[in-house]
Amino acid sequence: MKNDFFLEVFRKIGLNFYRAFYGKKVKKGFWYVPYEPSAFVEQLEKVKENFSGEVVPSFLDVGCGVGLTLLLAWQVGFKPYGIEIVPELVKLAKLFTYSLGGWVKRRDALKFKDYDKFDVIYFYCPIKDMKLENRLERLIEDKMRVGAFLIANCKQNNCIEKDNRFKKIYENNRGDAVWIKVKG
Ligand SMILES: C[S@@+](CC[C@H](N)C(=O)[O-])C[C@H]1O[C@@H](n2cnc3c(N)ncnc32)[C@H](O)[C@@H]1O
Repeated sequence: MKNDFFLEVFRKIGLNFYRAFYGKKVKKGFWYVPYEPSAFVEQLEKVKENFSGEVVPSFLDVGCGVGLTLLLAWQVGFKPYGIEIVPELVKLAKLFTYSLGGWVKRRDALKFKDYDKFDVIYFYCPIKDMKLENRLERLIEDKMRVGAFLIANCKQNNCIEKDNRFKKIYENNRGDAVWIKVKG
């Protein structure tokens, strides 16, 4: 599945769309930086190994930006969902993910109530304010359901390492880990 050349081209297309259409208009205080696609695909594949072939698990990107991760998740065999706070990015993400079977919605991740509805939750440090980012990470860990997976990139709150509700199933060479919630 991995082909770094095409994945990088894909990432550049997403970034260029964002910069060309919205880059300067997006409010200060929010950032859109896509995670490295090949490292992300590796994480998705590790999670997918835990589901049988016919199952299409749901995947939520918290702060999905223009939706590149949603396309990759769909390609690996997930049903992709995204929430994003910046309206311009929501528009682009809807365009990029049109017809993949999931949805993209404008939502503040700190107020989102449905973290318990997804098989896989992913984030790449969405919030710049580290106090709020910490709060978001704890919220997701508390609300996600038992048996769900968490792909936590550039994670700020390390309490999960000692939290017996979670078991680490994979860590890449950037120190970004994938977890399963084993207890409520
Ligand atoms: C570092 S980018 C990650 C983009 C994408 N998830 C990826 O991994 O390629 C963080 C994204 O989170 C969004 N964001 C920031 N605060 C948010 C909030 N409170 N609720 C939802 N999205 C938020 C930003 O606008 C930005 O698009």
